This record gives sequence, structure tokens and C-alpha cells, in this order.
Amino acid sequence: MSLQGKAALVTGAAQGIGEAVSSRLAQDGAAVAVIDINAGKAEEVAAALRATGAQALAAAIDVTNRESVAEGIDRIARELGAPLILVNNAGVYRSTPLKDASSTAWDLSMDVMLKGAVIMAQEATPRMVRAGWGRIINLGSMMSSVAYGEDLAYCTAKSGVLGLTRSLAAELAKHNICVNAICPGSILTSMLEQVGEAVERRDGLEPESWLQKRTNEIPLGRLGTPEDIANAISFFCSEDSSYITGQSLHVNGGIYQS
Ligand SMILES: NC(=O)c1ccc[n+]([C@@H]2O[C@H](COP(=O)([O-])OP(=O)(O)OC[C@H]3O[C@@H](n4cnc5c(N)ncnc54)[C@H](O)[C@@H]3O)[C@@H](O)[C@H]2O)c1
Repeated sequence: MSLQGKAALVTGAAQGIGEAVSSRLAQDGAAVAVIDINAGKAEEVAAALRATGAQALAAAIDVTNRESVAEGIDRIARELGAPLILVNNAGVYRSTPLKDASSTAWDLSMDVMLKGAVIMAQEATPRMVRAGWGRIINLGSMMSSVAYGEDLAYCTAKSGVLGLTRSLAAELAKHNICVNAICPGSILTSMLEQVGEAVERRDGLEPESWLQKRTNEIPLGRLGTPEDIANAISFFCSEDSSYITGQSLHVNGGIYQS
């Protein structure tokens, strides 16, 4: 229970990796704010955590909307205590070939995964600064470092996440706030299904065949689970990582080695 007494903000927590992170941080003793635009599913996740005896609440926050973020964090601070942990996990995947780079898919990708993470950090850090302790973990991707065809927006946004991580780490270190990125490989969530569907449209490869091909390429021989990512995030929230900041950790079964 290394996070006992600390409140954590987890964005995009209604499903997938964010749900697993919420569950893991609750097991670690944190009071968890399950943040998502999907209010119904966020409430289900928070209720399931409360049923285990954890302290948790759902917050319907759109991370791209500053007013929504500011109001939501104020309410969370009143109900759970000042949040000292922020996991910027909310994400979207839209296939974007170059010709669609000015489309809404491009804007949405930048808004959710970069602007949203910045707004969350801006609204969350004053309380961390006052406490003299904080942790921010940003979700990058294998695509922060390598590119696949027609993923221009996702790849660019996730590369930006690493710059954002380094920049926040440099600025916030004097307040004892550590900022790191986790870069997942292929993790079994609905987002991976969306990638498979895009590959099918693009290359005509059926999602099952693509997943098998991808699995065969992973040295550890399996796709990742949301819990694989939650384990690494738990470490970056803990005192065990207190001398690590500005770094990115690839959690990908060895498919890409940095
Ligand atoms: N699944 C993978 O293989 C994989 C690989 C690399 C990186 N990632 C990253 O991990 C993170 C989580 O991915 P996942 O696979 O669990 O995705 P997911 O699609 O299952 O979940 C994403 C969640 O983010 C929420 N969300 C979207 N826009 C939002 C907004 N504006 N405000 C608040 N919430 C919003 C969605 O409602 C959803 O609940 C993302 O940042 C993703 O890019 C995932």
C-alpha cells in the first residue's frame, strides 16, 4: 500500500489501460479519480473499485476542455484530497495518411494526447507544488519512437509526448515532481482492435491475421495486457522511482528496443 493517503488522477480510465491503472493504484492504496468523457463507464469502474473497499470516484471530464478539467479537479480535491499523482492516459487512435493530415482526426489526436495532457498538468501541478511531492506519468507509445504507414497524427502526437515529458520533468524537478513516460507496445484493448480495423482497410489483412503476425514479431511471444502497463505505472508512482525523471520506459515485450 505504498500510495496510501495519496489521491491520483487517471484520465481515459473508463476502459482498457486506464481502467487497469485505476485498479492497480487503488490496490497500492491511492484514492483514485476515474476520469473519462464516457461518464457511464467511468462510474462503473469507480463503483467496482469502491466495492473492493477502495476510495474512488468517477469524474466526467473532457481533458481538452480547460473549464471541465479545472472544475473536475477542484471537486476531486474536495472529495479525495489534493491529487498528487496524474496519469495522462486518455488517447484516441485515428488512421491518418498524409492527405488527411489537416482533417479532424489530426486535430483530435493533438487535442486529446498533447493539449489535453498539458491542460491536465497545468491544472494539477499547483497542488503538487504546494505539497512538495508529485508524480506525472504520460502515455507514449512504441510509435513515439518508430513509425508505421498512415499513422501520421498518432505518431506525431506520441512523439510529442516524449518532448512534453522531458520539458515538464526539467521544469518541475525543483518541486520534487517526477515526470516520466510509459511507451506501450501492442496491448489488448479496444484501441488495438481499432488499429487492426485500420490495417484491414489499408492492407486488406484480416485483424486476426494481423494480430497473429504482430504477436509472432514480439520476442516475448505474446501481446501485452493492460496490467503489464499498470505495473510499470505503479513503479513510476512509487518512492522506488524517486530518482528517475524525464525518462521513457518501453513496455512492449521487446518488439522495439530503445
Ligand atoms: N492499446 C495499445 O496497444 C496502446 C499502445 C500504445 C499506447 N497506447 C496508449 O495508451 C493509452 C490508453 O489506451 P487504451 O488502449 O486503453 O485505449 P482505449 O481506447 O481503450 O481507451 C481510451 C480512453 O480514453 C478516453 N478518452 C478519449 N478522449 C478523451 C477525452 N477528451 N477526455 C477524457 N477521456 C478521453 C476514451 O473514452 C477511452 O475510455 C492511450 O493514450 C493510447 O494511445 C495504447
